[in-house]
Amino acid sequence: MSDLDDNDMEIISKSDMNREVSPQLDEQLITDIIKKDAYGKNTDLTLRPDKDGLTLAGNSQSLRGDFTRMRSRINPGNLNRELLIKASKIKGKAEGLTAVDATAGLGEDAFLLAAAGFSVRLYERDPVIAALLHDALSRAAAIPDLAAIVGRMELFETDSLTALPQLGFNPDVVLLDPMFPARQKSALIKKKFQLLQQLEQPCTDEDALLHAAIASAPYKIVIKRPLKGAWLADRKPDYSLKGKTIRYDCIVLTNSGREGGLVECTKQTQRMAER
Ligand SMILES: C[S@@+](CC[C@H](N)C(=O)[O-])C[C@H]1O[C@@H](n2cnc3c(N)ncnc32)[C@H](O)[C@@H]1O
Repeated sequence: MSDLDDNDMEIISKSDMNREVSPQLDEQLITDIIKKDAYGKNTDLTLRPDKDGLTLAGNSQSLRGDFTRMRSRINPGNLNRELLIKASKIKGKAEGLTAVDATAGLGEDAFLLAAAGFSVRLYERDPVIAALLHDALSRAAAIPDLAAIVGRMELFETDSLTALPQLGFNPDVVLLDPMFPARQKSALIKKKFQLLQQLEQPCTDEDALLHAAIASAPYKIVIKRPLKGAWLADRKPDYSLKGKTIRYDCIVLTNSGREGGLVECTKQTQRMAER
């Protein structure tokens, strides 16, 4: 019993009832995942619910989404020093801020934005990563000091390329953090993230991702890059904030840029409706 999806991922389930890994994953389900990595090699990964939450395991490593580890970063003194929070500030607006994380992963960046008061929509297209994130959000919702923060985070298991142009509102910030090809081999990658890297495809649609973000007509697009990485889609940002290993490139859309985005958004929505 197997399924092949667009991402060349085969999910083999021990239950006929649950052939796909999704946020609605059966608690008792033990799912073995076989996926080709970015070099076409088969990798054996297992996704199983254990007492601490949904866990991805393989190659003697395991990984779980866990927002409790983020506590020190959201202390009031520390949060405002986070480069992402500085990059996402909107001049003259402190309340009612909205953000879209178009490449959610395990939701750590989105969590920082939510802790800073943003209402955040998260898009994650990989079903396994989305399941891990969904589980981490559910567990955090039961922890008193984290509940309000994750209450501002809403996860959609879908591709942001199609979702962004038809959001129905104009977010203050769109965050983009697609996997950078050079990260694939970096010795700096933390061990736990090596598992995730087997699931993620390096971004090959940078132009499409940037255009989708522009089509949602946000005030600002914030792009996370390795410190020395190239600009996303070769688009020069208006300014960048640099840390020790990463950089945030910020594109601030002028009113005409936003209107352009809206026109593109409307056209794209029409095209989708006509299909
Ligand atoms: C580098 S990770 C993001 C990590 C994230 N910033 C965090 O703090 O955990 C990139 C993620 O974006 C997802 N992704 C890439 N392109 C996407 C798209 N077009 N729509 C939705 N998810 C996407 C990948 O599956 C991957 O999980």
